[in-house]
Amino acid sequence: MGVVLEAVNVVRHFGAVKACDDLSVQLQEGQTVGIVGPNGSGKTTFVNIVTGYVKPTGGQIRFKGDSIIGLEPRKIANLGITRSFQVPQLYTSLTILENMLIALSIRSKQQWGFWRPLRSAARLEEASRLLADFGFTDGIDHKASTLPEGGRKLLDVALSFALQPTILLLDEPTSGVSVDDKFAVMDTLMGVVKHSAITAVFIEHDMDVVARYADRVLVFSEGTILADGTSAEVFANPAVRTHVLGEGV
Ligand SMILES: Nc1ncnc2c1ncn2[C@@H]1O[C@H](COP(=O)(O)OP(=O)(O)OP(=O)(O)O)[C@@H](O)[C@H]1O
Ligand SMILES: [Mg+2]
Repeated sequence: MGVVLEAVNVVRHFGAVKACDDLSVQLQEGQTVGIVGPNGSGKTTFVNIVTGYVKPTGGQIRFKGDSIIGLEPRKIANLGITRSFQVPQLYTSLTILENMLIALSIRSKQQWGFWRPLRSAARLEEASRLLADFGFTDGIDHKASTLPEGGRKLLDVALSFALQPTILLLDEPTSGVSVDDKFAVMDTLMGVVKHSAITAVFIEHDMDVVARYADRVLVFSEGTILADGTSAEVFANPAVRTHVLGEGV
């Protein structure tokens, strides 16, 4: 498996806070990587740096060998690194289908540089197919605002799939989703991810979810990576048990 993304000695300070503190990691093609760690340990900042929303104070990020530091978020998304946010970014007053049609139109503008009809037959078909992959079949003419939180999260990820990513970064895909629905949301999401063989990175606080879906787990602590391995390996690590899982404290 080749390295698709490489972070080298990434630093980001906010005043006295070291959100990322000399963080280095390599991600391989097709991996599903869970990121865990206490509040404020730099998880979102890392995703923000990789996707261009935050500029690092120091260090390097390479995507397929090329530096992406300093590129705008849209440019990075075009290259194939897409993301979701802690709070889904949807047009809630538009329908589920319309949200997807817009996402697809953004991609086609990027690929061909001109505007095509939003509702062309080809695009409607692709939108329906992509939505169906994420479990949206009936009711795609309903407004996105009618979706429960789990549905909003799924739609948000489905929209980022419209850009045909190589790497997908998900910031807490199950936050706000009820305990009963969490695994259903992740089953759908990870089913699509595994099927497409992309590299997926998800930040998650629920260790059961992490253990079930991540091939590899990165444990963040104070802006750096405290442990890196399979979920069994990192959850057996004494430092992780004390500092992150809060055992024996
Ligand atoms: N734009 C910002 N301005 C100032 N401080 C920031 C900013 N963004 C993040 N920080 C600080 O950097 C640290 C890391 O924040 P970050 O959001 O990356 O943590 P996190 O691991 O995602 O936490 P959580 O689990 O709560 O989402 C925190 O102390 C946070 O307050
Ligand atoms: Mg966060």
